[in-house]
Amino acid sequence: MTEMTPLRIGICGVGTVGLATISILQNQLSLLAARCGRELSVTHVGARRDHSDHLYGDAKISRDVMDVARDPDVDVVVELIGGTTVAHELVKLAIEQGKHVVTANKALIAEHGNQLLALAEASGVHLCFEAAVAGGIPVIKSLREALAGNVVSEVAGIINGTGNFILTEMSNKGRAFEDVLSEAQSLGYAEADPTFDIDGTDAAHKLVILASLAFGVPLSIDAPAKEGIQNITPEDLDYAKALGYRVKHLGIARRSGSRIEMRVHPTLIPESKQLAGVDGVLNAIMLKADAVGELLLVGPGAGGAATASSVCSDIIDIARECGPGTRPLGIPVAELNAVSVIPWEEVSSEWYLRLHVTDRPGVMSDITQKLAARGISIESLVQKAAKEGDTDVPIVILTHAVPASLISDAVEAVVALEEVQPDLALIRVEAFD
Ligand code: HSE
Repeated sequence: MTEMTPLRIGICGVGTVGLATISILQNQLSLLAARCGRELSVTHVGARRDHSDHLYGDAKISRDVMDVARDPDVDVVVELIGGTTVAHELVKLAIEQGKHVVTANKALIAEHGNQLLALAEASGVHLCFEAAVAGGIPVIKSLREALAGNVVSEVAGIINGTGNFILTEMSNKGRAFEDVLSEAQSLGYAEADPTFDIDGTDAAHKLVILASLAFGVPLSIDAPAKEGIQNITPEDLDYAKALGYRVKHLGIARRSGSRIEMRVHPTLIPESKQLAGVDGVLNAIMLKADAVGELLLVGPGAGGAATASSVCSDIIDIARECGPGTRPLGIPVAELNAVSVIPWEEVSSEWYLRLHVTDRPGVMSDITQKLAARGISIESLVQKAAKEGDTDVPIVILTHAVPASLISDAVEAVVALEEVQPDLALIRVEAFD
């Protein structure tokens, strides 16, 4: 079994995921050796700071992570630094040095993936990124390998654990946004800069990678339309619930004729759909494909050990010499086919519109006329009770499917009415029928 030389691993970045990866590699030494047919040995750790309480066994320690990429005693560089500056330089250098690379860095792959993958392909090394999307869920392998016989038509998922944790706690326990965010940070779910979790950037990076794998398109960081969860209020979470929906932040990539839709945004989902019940830090990715039909992959989308599970799976593939080689995105980079993305304004859906209006006779009719004048049909309209001491009443409208351009125009006209307050919520509804 150990006739082959050990696979020598250099870990760069010893945050939550780095430490959890080292811990799996150290604690499961003999099991992993049996599974790989060779030993996995951490020979070098790149850590920018001194961590006297971290145990790295016999591994060399360097302050400059580039030393790990240049080390002749390293076969695989594991990049767990994050960001797109030092991490980019490191991955490029590692590939140029003939090392395989494993990374959990979605921003890096979404932004520089086309070039880095082409470079890896030309250098004959593996560049793996299972941990970059949905933490512990093996969605990259599922799309690239398990579903390779299918034509995928849609990928829709909850792909930011922090955001899902925040929405779930706000909705189920009435907790304040900031309070839940602090907890997500202390649990190691949130990004170093949690703005990316909140404003949809993190989910957009992951969607770019999923869309590339699903549809064979180049990685295109600017392709998804993006809305975050920062404007979701407890009030809207409650109203959605009362109407039989849950609000989830989704990434959606869908084939539509010869074009694709790509968007991340809060979404009302009927509570009967499995996605609607995926709570807390869990992620879930629904895949629709011609042969298999509909699949839902659910699991922890963030956190040290769960993400390290995916990092280790890539390391094990490389040790077994069955890494993705020239096809980390399913097909070689040069064969990816650019298709145009449908602009946000053109994408149709049903809509949830919540307004605050002065409770005066005729106001409802004024609002519905503005919608009717644009051919927008109302599915339901509910007037909620005013809060104590409030002169305005909330109104919640669900529309039939119309493009964003049409509903935005109607909302502009509605808000121009004297009785309608500027504070409103406009959220897409997806039934996923
Ligand atoms: N901050 C990310 C999340 C970590 O909350 O999903 C995993 O990518």
